[in-house]
Amino acid sequence: MPPSEANPVRSTAVGSGDVLPRVKVAAASAAPAAPAPARVSGERVAPIATYREEAVVDRVVVPASRRYIRRAEFLPFSPPVIGEEEVTEVVDTLRSDWLTTGPKTRCFEQEFAHYVGAQGALALNSCTAGLHTSLVALGTGAGDEVITTPMTFAATVNVIEHVGARPVLVDVEPDTLNIDPVEIERAITPRTKAIIAVHYSGHPADLDAIEAIAARHGLAVIEDAAHALPAWYRGRMIGAGENPTAFSFYATKNLTTAEGGMLTGSAEFLERARPVSLHGMTRDALRRYERGGSWRYEILSPGFKYNMTDIQAAMGRCQLRKLERFDARRREVVAAYHAAFGESDALELPVERPDVRHAWHLYVLRLRPEALRIGRDRFIDELAQRNIGTSVHFIPVHLHPYYRDRYGWTPTDFPVAYEAFERMLSLPLNPRLTGRDVDDVITAVLDVVRTYRR
Ligand SMILES: Cc1ncc(COP(=O)(O)O)c(C=O)c1O
Repeated sequence: MPPSEANPVRSTAVGSGDVLPRVKVAAASAAPAAPAPARVSGERVAPIATYREEAVVDRVVVPASRRYIRRAEFLPFSPPVIGEEEVTEVVDTLRSDWLTTGPKTRCFEQEFAHYVGAQGALALNSCTAGLHTSLVALGTGAGDEVITTPMTFAATVNVIEHVGARPVLVDVEPDTLNIDPVEIERAITPRTKAIIAVHYSGHPADLDAIEAIAARHGLAVIEDAAHALPAWYRGRMIGAGENPTAFSFYATKNLTTAEGGMLTGSAEFLERARPVSLHGMTRDALRRYERGGSWRYEILSPGFKYNMTDIQAAMGRCQLRKLERFDARRREVVAAYHAAFGESDALELPVERPDVRHAWHLYVLRLRPEALRIGRDRFIDELAQRNIGTSVHFIPVHLHPYYRDRYGWTPTDFPVAYEAFERMLSLPLNPRLTGRDVDDVITAVLDVVRTYRR
């Protein structure tokens, strides 16, 4: 069954190849202006750029003759995509009598689980909370080793330290920069307890190979899906399986609740994880205070305070309804970048393997030093001078002072990750980009390449 049939939330989806409908800009300007925020005396009020969702629906036009013209305003790397629906829903929540984890969080969990095809979902205040909760619920602790990748944000590895276990890093595959299953197998010891696979940039890790290794050695697999919404691996959606899988709703992510996260996995795992994420309590606030609820609860373990608020859930539910449209727009931008950069011998493009569907959270270009007179840092400066914001994902974990010093790692201990880091940059990729923005990014990148070609 195609995903849109299986899943009502997806039924309004715009297919990746479809052209998004044009929406009259006049309708947006007719929207009532937001009241000016109250000013605290002495406070400098910066102008807030208001986002009109209509801006995203134009086509990405690739002009026949690409002439570089410096854009007038700075293009931020990854602004959030918040529409009037989110504003209305958040205000509605503020006006309701339920602010923290309550009916909207419960609905968001159900809708999210339904969307990815999971047995259930646990809404949390971050992906980090989801990863930490998973390790604790699986009983990982002192004396254990957890294998993961250096090509990730520190959160993935910090949580291993939080439970007192030892992070064991292994190198990544050269094309996707995802954890390399061959290297995982080599790193297993009698102390290995779990593998955390990160779906880097939104490209699913090779789950079949990783799960086969885990099954052979009796290990748990936890998926860091911070970037991987919506993503597919060999016909299954990331989050649909039984592995504990943590998503991020941080401000820059494909779906945002400002801060937030969601944990999916087997029903049995989620039952164990839920109290861990809320003080070890047997009954959350809604189940205590709603009609028919009971004030009585017990503490089963010294759990954490990781719950999502209904204010966040209100945003999340709106964003979930728009996710397919956001995804389609990301894919349009990626197609334009691929077409524009594909022929340059100075640029290495990100890949999408044939057996996956990439979530395209990030578009990570790698420079080819043999073709350029400048390195990555200067390339980023040159783009900034051309008013294009970029970023780098990631400084590999083993280069950070804490991890370098604690485990004695040197840069070339993980040569694929290190070499990729040295020549990578992430270009703007978000549904707010207009066709003009995309063209500005493309012409600026090609202008820097032309200027500094060897
Ligand atoms: C790969 C990866 N894992 C985990 C996280 C942590 O997500 P959160 O900020 O929701 O805790 C991030 C955040 O950027 C990330 O990029």
